[in-house]
Amino acid sequence: MLEKNQIVEVEIVDLTHEGQGVAKLDGFVFFVDNALPGERIKMKVLKLKKNIGFGKVEEWLSFSADRNQDLDLTYLRTGIADLGHLNYSAQLAFKKKQVEMALRKIAGISDIVVEDTQGMSTPLAYRNKAAVPVRRVNGQLETGFFRKNSHDLVPIEDFYIQNKEIDALIVATRDLLRKLDLKPYDEKEQTGLFRNIVVRRGHYTGQMMLVLVTTRPKIFRVETLIERLTEAFPNLISIIQNINDQNTNAIFGQEFRLLHGSEKIVDRMLGNEFEISAPSFYQVNTEMAELLYQTGIEFAGLSADDVVIDAYSGIGTIGLSFAKQVKHVYGVEVVEKAVADSKKNATRNGINNVTYVCDSAENAMQKWVADGIKPTVIFVDPPRKGLTESFIKASVSVAPEKIVYISCNVATMARDVKLYEELGYKLIKVRPVDLFPNTHHVECVALLVKA
Ligand SMILES: C[S@@+](CC[C@H](N)C(=O)[O-])C[C@H]1O[C@@H](n2cnc3c(N)ncnc32)[C@H](O)[C@@H]1O
Repeated sequence: MLEKNQIVEVEIVDLTHEGQGVAKLDGFVFFVDNALPGERIKMKVLKLKKNIGFGKVEEWLSFSADRNQDLDLTYLRTGIADLGHLNYSAQLAFKKKQVEMALRKIAGISDIVVEDTQGMSTPLAYRNKAAVPVRRVNGQLETGFFRKNSHDLVPIEDFYIQNKEIDALIVATRDLLRKLDLKPYDEKEQTGLFRNIVVRRGHYTGQMMLVLVTTRPKIFRVETLIERLTEAFPNLISIIQNINDQNTNAIFGQEFRLLHGSEKIVDRMLGNEFEISAPSFYQVNTEMAELLYQTGIEFAGLSADDVVIDAYSGIGTIGLSFAKQVKHVYGVEVVEKAVADSKKNATRNGINNVTYVCDSAENAMQKWVADGIKPTVIFVDPPRKGLTESFIKASVSVAPEKIVYISCNVATMARDVKLYEELGYKLIKVRPVDLFPNTHHVECVALLVKA
């Protein structure tokens, strides 16, 4: 009979979609951090439930050939790089397998050949955005990342997968907050001022935006803070304050205030310029997002007669990339500031065959159907929760020839693909593109055609 704290020898037989090792013993399935398939370990039993257990590696008896021995384990413990202990080629194979398994288990599709995951040549320091908590640790204001499944801050200066200039701006901001004696947020006591620091940096332009998330409007000595930071970072062209006084895990509250410079930064993707506001979505890995969009455009095989819907359009990055090749693009996005950005971005790039609406994708789709708009191709790029049944049914009712599904969650994509197949569409291509190297997150593009 297994007991808590017992040390047992096990072999790791699989990796979960979140990158935990899986071992089986005495009718229990164990989940173990930092353990890879093929490895034999001495495992300490941490927790036992009905037929599930959690274990911890006490000692490795053998290592996987796919193990990256060089990873600083802080990046695993915080989840910053929760797949960083796996060599990059094995990560790409793991992600392809995740797509195959989701399609087989959730959509019941096993006759599709999932293409190889497109990887990055240098899968480090790729993130153009950071959102880090500010807390007190051992009496000192610190920035870093929470330990996995907790709100305990681990102080970090090098975030491994973030652009290095972003890391430098975070450290400089932290040092100034300390010097100016500004108070970090205390979640338990609901006191203090600085909750989070959010940084965005244009991949091609280098323009930077800093958002200081505070519990209250008043920041003492804010002029000094702005002066010092803009002196040290001449490309810091936008400093914004966001006020979040709620007891919540959401980073941003409702209110944004401009403290310095511009409300937006500009970046480029596939030759177009994009204005990006603080609350707007912008893909965090620009180099790979360009490849993602090119893959979608390749799958769609667009022509001058096409009328295209870009659902979940953000600041318009996808639709504007191909607008000049087609007759018209209709975009829908729920965040008001992002829709305003997409309209400005169309004008900025001399594109006038686009129409953007601020609405939920499901509402807009119904309205377009009622208005008699007949799209030939529909692009969807939903958040993790995927599409709704009503969106899928409305999109099918206008019988587009192709649906290009860009997904950041293979489980919900597989669920939606199943419904599309039941409604007369056939999945013919799937290609994962690695937008999030060294993490377990899987992004892919799928093509469905009218059967
Ligand atoms: C994965 S992002 C894609 C954005 C854009 N296509 C891009 O590549 O940058 C999903 C977008 O959907 C928006 N969104 C979330 N729920 C929505 C809904 N129900 N209707 C319309 N847009 C929604 C989010 O604000 C976000 O901008």
